[in-house]
Amino acid sequence: MTDKNEWGSNLSFVFAMIGSAVGLGNIWRYPYVLYSNGGGAFYLPYIIAILLMGIPFLILEYGVGYNFKASFAKAVKKIDSKYEYLGWFLPVAVFMIMIYYSAILGWDGIYMILSFTKGWGADPNTFFTTTLLQSSGNYLHLAHFIPIIAIAMIIGWVIIWFISHRDLESGLGRVSKLLVPLLFIIMVVIVCFSLTLPGASIGLAELFNPDWAVLSDFGIWMAAFGQIVFSLSLGMSIAFTYASYTKDDADLITNTISIALANSLFENFAALGVFSILGYMSMQSGTAVADLVTQGTGLVFIVYPTVFNVLGDWAYILGPMFFLTVYLAGLTSILSTIEPLSFSIQNKFNLSRSKTMTILIIVGAAISMIYATSFGGDLLGFVDTFINQIALLFGVIVECVIFAWIFKADKLIDFLNSRSKTIKLGKWWILIVKYILPIFISIIWIGGIIDVVNSATITQLNFTIVSAILLLGASLVFTLLPAKNPDWDNACERV
Ligand code: PHE
Repeated sequence: MTDKNEWGSNLSFVFAMIGSAVGLGNIWRYPYVLYSNGGGAFYLPYIIAILLMGIPFLILEYGVGYNFKASFAKAVKKIDSKYEYLGWFLPVAVFMIMIYYSAILGWDGIYMILSFTKGWGADPNTFFTTTLLQSSGNYLHLAHFIPIIAIAMIIGWVIIWFISHRDLESGLGRVSKLLVPLLFIIMVVIVCFSLTLPGASIGLAELFNPDWAVLSDFGIWMAAFGQIVFSLSLGMSIAFTYASYTKDDADLITNTISIALANSLFENFAALGVFSILGYMSMQSGTAVADLVTQGTGLVFIVYPTVFNVLGDWAYILGPMFFLTVYLAGLTSILSTIEPLSFSIQNKFNLSRSKTMTILIIVGAAISMIYATSFGGDLLGFVDTFINQIALLFGVIVECVIFAWIFKADKLIDFLNSRSKTIKLGKWWILIVKYILPIFISIIWIGGIIDVVNSATITQLNFTIVSAILLLGASLVFTLLPAKNPDWDNACERV
């Protein structure tokens, strides 16, 4: 049977969820966000964002997901059939993330191999942008195909298929229990090594040096809330789907706390590693840490290779370990991005898990080939900005409103509390999920849109519009196609 969507144990659920949360954002985004938003002082808004938003929202998403024991689209339709469209919007948006994440995974795979010989040469910057990505900034170069990237990406898709098309527990469940602890162990080894490098303390002093004045800056608070949404994969229908796969006796509140804690632990650990390395580099090169620090692909594929170039023989061990960490972090996240859409399709069209996964992976892999072109790197940046700053946050607000207001989160309180061995929910939780969350996220969302509109070029705006049309169109198609499953209208509620 290849159709089972249930975790074998609570541990599988928790590890898979940590695997989804701990991703590239923890490695390449968080250290930069922490540094550029007041250093040590950032912890105040960060902790408030976790307590006020991360944990309460995750409990909401888990609670409703658990209640329905059904896919996101099916549950939203059940809550109110007028909103079925919104039930497809988020799973499709998350699937779009999957498609471009596969390109980053591919690049990282290539670097993992290169790191055995420092194959990026003396100038990692030129190597990444010109030699590997052949970045042209010209959309006409979508026709210029880069086979090596395509091959690396296809290998990633095959690995994903191998894990995802099986029953949930024998694929994703088992793999998460193996890879997530492995990821943490390798990370600890890398960070411990980095901390012993000469100059590490320079980097760490730069990182944590608190700038309390920034606390009065609204932007810092937005950065903290934005980081938590992204890092915990909040409101993306992933947590919902994972909770709907749980058995009947899950303690969701305690699970939420463990997951949020593990995620924060990992990203703060990553920050120690990144800034120790930057401190070392700063000492070797005489360049100030402030001039070295960056985020995103620049950090992983340019700054790190540059550091490995000056690190001598240790780099032949540290390099492969580092790119493996990034690969594992990316893989366990990407595996989560297919689940909401896959489960929704299984529910509506009565397809088996294995067939749905196979079809989605073939479609995803085919579309992802646009990223294996000379315009791929630029396109990836545009789509990422659109999805993260505009589409997902919109989905998050919608989810919050549908779950807290229309579904009425209040009715989950007694049930969630009866299972909880730690915190008990009270009126404060309702206040947060009904009022504070939607308001805060709306503010971040509007800020993000203004930011995109102000800074985008014409090419970027055009591709943003195309991405939006594809997202809206695909969601519409899934909504309009007639259901093949007689059970589509009867979501089973557990509470
Ligand atoms: N939470 C992941 C990270 O921190 C990113 C992610 C986003 C994963 C969306 C899955 C879906 O990198």
